[in-house]
Order: sequence, then structure tokens, then C-alpha cells
Amino acid sequence: MKPAFPTLPAPHIPVAKPRLPEAHRLMPYLERLDQSRIYANIGPVCQELKERLGKHFDITEGGLALTASGSAALVGAILAAAGRRTNRPIALCASYTFVATLSAIQCCGYDPHLADIDPNTWALDPDALRRHPRLHEVGLVAVTAPYGRLPDLDAWARFRRDTGIPVVIDAAASFDVLERLPRAIPPDLPVVLSFHATKAFGCGEGGAVICTDPDLFLRVIRATNNGFFGARHVIGDNINGKMSEYHGCVAMAALDYWGATLWDYKQTAKAYHHAANANGIDAMLRVGGDTSYAYALLHTSTEEQAIFVRDQLAAKGIDSRFWYGRGLHRETGFGPFDCDPMPVTDSLSHRLLGLPFYADLAISAIEEICKTVAQAMEIIPIEGVQNVGRP
Ligand SMILES: Cc1ncc(COP(=O)(O)O)c(C=O)c1O
Repeated sequence: MKPAFPTLPAPHIPVAKPRLPEAHRLMPYLERLDQSRIYANIGPVCQELKERLGKHFDITEGGLALTASGSAALVGAILAAAGRRTNRPIALCASYTFVATLSAIQCCGYDPHLADIDPNTWALDPDALRRHPRLHEVGLVAVTAPYGRLPDLDAWARFRRDTGIPVVIDAAASFDVLERLPRAIPPDLPVVLSFHATKAFGCGEGGAVICTDPDLFLRVIRATNNGFFGARHVIGDNINGKMSEYHGCVAMAALDYWGATLWDYKQTAKAYHHAANANGIDAMLRVGGDTSYAYALLHTSTEEQAIFVRDQLAAKGIDSRFWYGRGLHRETGFGPFDCDPMPVTDSLSHRLLGLPFYADLAISAIEEICKTVAQAMEIIPIEGVQNVGRP
């Protein structure tokens, strides 16, 4: 049987090619560990990283809690904002997200209920969810920022205040978007970031929760630090979700070179737009803007077009990805979950194709990708071929 999501074993152009700081850039930080002999528990390196990132995002109230992964950050944010499953056992979540959003909900004891997304924002719609028939059972809403596209945080803060239902923002891929399009983070919304190697800013495995409310921030620290804060006295449901000092070293070095990395992303984005323009596909391409530099997305009108493009790229050894699959409601080995009708997710999930994007993607590769896309879409002809005969 043909797999639903084929991946190329040895692509000539991979869909992602993370580039973390080279070993020599880590050395000054690793040598600090030799001196401090503190390797965990948010030691001096992570303390400094926390301060630097706090300044980076201009957080003046609350703070930024460093975690072992975006998933650990999600669990910490949920435990801090909503606590473990209560007498309102349902957690609303988009089907159009990475599996980790839902897994974190389950880890905190909630029963996920998958909801459809808004066709324009690709995210849950706070106004639609106010009218959700199961709202009286809902103890948590986890809102994904798809591909880093941040939802309307003020609208979610109003939802939280009006309904009393805690909201967690899964902004796993939003590091560069938050910086490019800075938003005031309302005090009652914990915002989760992932520093996974595949994200625009990565340290291998890592993450963070940004909170602008000092009490909520304290609860996130406790929830990701075995329930401790200041004293060896456990308070509240918790995990060990802390970032190690080793990962802190990688993140510090990544932050030192973030300006250069960003410059490379911008050049790649510029080259993409140039090649997309030359091949007549710029209107379909999303690179930069309100989505993260971790992605280049081709937004087609039909699923058949996207699948044909994917196959044509694959034939040339160029990998691509439907990053969130067909939505979690279509996962065959996971669930089933309670689920609303999914017309938007069903339609969008196979019309947003992730194209290769990384900091040092060669201009010649970008030109080849855009030309192949344009040929598959019959925008430009294939040399010597009259009609592509797309299905
Ligand atoms: C939307 C979303 N949420 C959560 C996560 C989980 O982050 P991590 O892999 O750092 O645990 C990811 C990671 O890809 C993600 O894309």
C-alpha cells in the first residue's frame, strides 16, 4: 500500500536541514560547565539565557521559563493555567496541529475534543468556540499558532475572561514571528515556544513558556520543576520539565549568532520570492511575513494540485511535507477523539504543502523548486512537452 505521507529516503533537496551552532561556538559555554559543575536545574547558563531571552522579547512582568522541550513547556503551561483535569474534563484543540499539542493535553488528564479551524487564520476561532455545544464541559482550550502564525491574543484573552476557561497558546514555531511582529502578551495567556532543532531558533531539544503574569509564571516554574520554587517543598501537579545546562549552552550560542541566522533566513526568503515571481507562483507562496522562517508553504486551490506538485518534486529528489498531516482526526494509530465536523481542516490540510526551507538553501535549489512547482501547476510549460496532463 502506498504510504499516505511518503518521505524521500535520500533527497537531493531535503525539506528541512537544521543548522545549529558549530562545536567551537559552544566551547566557551561548555567550559563554564566544567567550572560550575552544574549541569541541570536551571544553573548559571540557563539563568543567563532566561535573562537574555526575557530582554529579547521585552518581557517586563512575569518571565520566561526554560523547558526541556516544547512538549514539556505545554504540559507546564497547562498545569499552571488550568491544573490537571477537573470536573470540566474536556480540552478543546485544533485537529490541524502537531501531535504534541494533543499529547500534552492527554498528559494532563483531559479528554481532547478536536475542533475545526478558521479558513483565514488556520487556527481555532474564539468567537465560534464561545458557541460550542460542549463549552460547559470544557476546562481548557489549547490554541495552536500554525506554522508560527500567531492568533489574535487579545481575542483569546477576552475569551478566557468571559468564559473563565483557561487558554494556552501553543506558539511552538513562533520565536521569529514574535520578534518580527511583536505582540503584547496578555497576562492570562501562557505562550509556549519550542526550541526543537527544526524550529527557526533551536537548541536541539528545548522550549520555553512566556508569561506576563507573575503568579502564573511562578506556577509554570513550579509545574516544570517538580513542584519546587525556592524551597524543597512540593506544590502542585508537576513534571521535571527543565532545560539542561547543556542545551542552555547551545541556546546561548544560537542566540549569539541569531542576527546572522536571521539574515540568512531573510536572504533565503528573498530568493524564494524572486524565483516564485519569475515562475508566476508568488501569489501561492508563503515565506516569512506572519509565518515562521522554519517553513515555506505552497497554498494551492485544490488537493489534487498539491499532491501532483509533491509527486513532481519527489520525482526530482526534492522533498516536501504536509506538516500537520491530514489533521489529528485522520490519524489511524492515535485516537479516535471526539471531534466536530472538519470541513476546513479536511480542505486545507492537503492544500498547504511545506516546501524546502533552511538558512543555507542554495539559490539554484530554490530556482529548481519554484520551476518544478510552476511546471506541475502548468503555469510554465515543461520544455518539449505540450501538455502536462495533470490529473
Ligand atoms: C505546533 C507544535 N506544538 C508543539 C510542538 C512540540 O515541541 P517539541 O518538539 O519541542 O516538544 C511542536 C514541535 O514541532 C509543534 O510544531
